[in-house]
Amino acid sequence: MKDRYFVIGNPVGHSKSPGIHAAFAAQSGIDLEYATCLAPLDGFAATVAALAAAGCKGANVTVPFKIEAFNLCSRLTARAQAAGAVNTLCFDGVDIAGDNTDGAGLVADIVGNAGVAIVGKRVLLVGAGGAARGVILPLLEQRPASLTLVNRTAATAHAVAAQFDGAVEVAEFADLAGPFDIVINATSASLAGEVPPIPPGVFGPATLALDMMYGSQPTAFMRFAAGHGAQVRDGLGMLVEQAAEAFHVWRGVRPATGSVLAALREAA
Ligand code: ATR
Repeated sequence: MKDRYFVIGNPVGHSKSPGIHAAFAAQSGIDLEYATCLAPLDGFAATVAALAAAGCKGANVTVPFKIEAFNLCSRLTARAQAAGAVNTLCFDGVDIAGDNTDGAGLVADIVGNAGVAIVGKRVLLVGAGGAARGVILPLLEQRPASLTLVNRTAATAHAVAAQFDGAVEVAEFADLAGPFDIVINATSASLAGEVPPIPPGVFGPATLALDMMYGSQPTAFMRFAAGHGAQVRDGLGMLVEQAAEAFHVWRGVRPATGSVLAALREAA
């Protein structure tokens, strides 16, 4: 029987992960199955238990279960611990091990695909929810000159920053002085077609402005940033790179991502 993997979410039918992992598997000569798994909103733990009992090797976890997955794991990597959320599960028949590849995916997309080094740069992270928290440790590991966190609800930003021993600065939107080298939108504002109240001065011609969201059209944040002269990027590269990192966690093989990302862009 082929090794089986799933992406568990609700909703999950739209997920691009099965196609991405099929491409990675084909490219690596590994015969595996990867499918979507719709878990009931109140049935994530039972779904995971059933998959593990059925001999499934691992799973990705997406909205809205990443924090529940974190709480379910018997072992966690340091980056999952720091993220407070899990997007990659490994089943070995005994343990449920949890990892988080989102931050590594973001870093790989910025450094590898966009060709922008993070070391020594001024980085602005907008948002302080799960998506933002998930990428802070991998960003800090790149040794930026500074990492500034800004959020609509400042208290949330302070609470998140407090977990990183002074390595993360918290600012108010109105006090942001730019330009920053890299501005990352980790809010869910783009889902509503909204833009956080970012002062245009954070953007300059050398700024990379990346929205973790993606769609067939540039997000409102990307349009805003481009309108103020920044170089813009959506979250599709991060999606492919976090999948590649999960594939590496499971199979010990690091797939090439360029052709997979290009095919997704073509299909969009
Ligand atoms: P996720 O898991 O996607 O991070 P979340 O944990 O609900 O989702 O966090 C959503 C983030 O987007 C938060 O930082 C939220 O700001 P608040 O903490 O003030 O709620 C931010 N957000 C959502 N809609 C926004 C908007 N229209 N403008 C600015 N920030 C927004």
